[in-house]
Amino acid sequence: MLILGIDTSCDDTTASVVEDGVNIISNIVSSQTEIHEKYGGIVPELASRRHIEMIWPVVDEAMKGAGVGLQDLSAIAVCNGPGLIGSLLVGCSFAKAICYSKNIPLVAVNHLEGHIFSSFLEEPRPEFPFLSLIVSGGHTSLHRIDGFGRYRELGKTRDDAAGEAYDKVSKLLGLEYPGGPIIDKLAQNGDHDAIDFPRAYLPESFDFSFSGLKTAVKIAVSSQQSAVKDSELRTLNSELINDIAASFQAAVVDVLVRKTEWAIKKERVRRVTLSGGVAANSELRKRMREMGEERYVEVFIPSMALCTDNAAMIAAAGYHHFITGNIAGMDLNPKAYLPL
Ligand code: KG4
Ligand code: ZN
Repeated sequence: MLILGIDTSCDDTTASVVEDGVNIISNIVSSQTEIHEKYGGIVPELASRRHIEMIWPVVDEAMKGAGVGLQDLSAIAVCNGPGLIGSLLVGCSFAKAICYSKNIPLVAVNHLEGHIFSSFLEEPRPEFPFLSLIVSGGHTSLHRIDGFGRYRELGKTRDDAAGEAYDKVSKLLGLEYPGGPIIDKLAQNGDHDAIDFPRAYLPESFDFSFSGLKTAVKIAVSSQQSAVKDSELRTLNSELINDIAASFQAAVVDVLVRKTEWAIKKERVRRVTLSGGVAANSELRKRMREMGEERYVEVFIPSMALCTDNAAMIAAAGYHHFITGNIAGMDLNPKAYLPL
């Protein structure tokens, strides 16, 4: 059974053909990083315009790459939220138009549900129940997953998403967008104990908060900037920048790993999956695996291409909607805010 997945929820135009919800036949991602990097973040209007230009070529490439035609598809799965409304509209309208004209069933997939199902696209696959930590530029959440459609939110960020914090700290340090990979790299040459940044553990809940940490980095940077000119910050203090990057990263990773560890204990589950762009972070991957070994918990982390936004995860989740008869109508509308 072949499903075409489509995701245009943020700044990547993506399409993928997946067989039986688990085997990736093709997986195409057209990134918009070049368009947005000069603004230090995603510009929603530019994102939707680029999606309009790219949606057909990306879908065409996914279909040709898989060597299939529209008549071979059992369904088209499209992400209808949460995300940027103008971006979501492009994918949803495109999927609806094809489904209507070719009489193909349409299924709607929540973007977070897609991230959860990215773990099923590679071996070994998790068994239910498991905890799912989603850490991306737009989301940071912890869910308990008991089966398809059986999701319980344990906590989510109260302010910035983890990736958003990385991107904002990168900007504060005069570095580029997206900040996650850059800070990850610089942190490897820094001292993670150099600055004792705050860790918001919020002990009574599984929610997260990263805005205080971002402010603490801002204060640390400002105190240095008063000593040197902004433009010289990087060249004069590359050692300091590495230390700030390492100390910031240690604070983010400590919170993510500790809170996941507490949730594992409370929920009495033996498996945890990690997904979203920040799951590409080298320190988070390492520390989460170490925690798994210490606690005898299986940790599932998809390969980098499946951590960041992709349509294979939408097709994987869409497969379950399709086989359980959860077909969307032509009145499907995208939603910027769409709880799981
Ligand atoms: O999942 P994703 O591709 O898009 C969203 O749905 O947001 O995640 C993008 C986010 C960005 O904030 C980026 O800075 C972050 O993931 N990211 C990383 C790393 N690679 C990407 N954060 C930390 N370390 C990385 N290596
Ligand atoms: Zn995402």
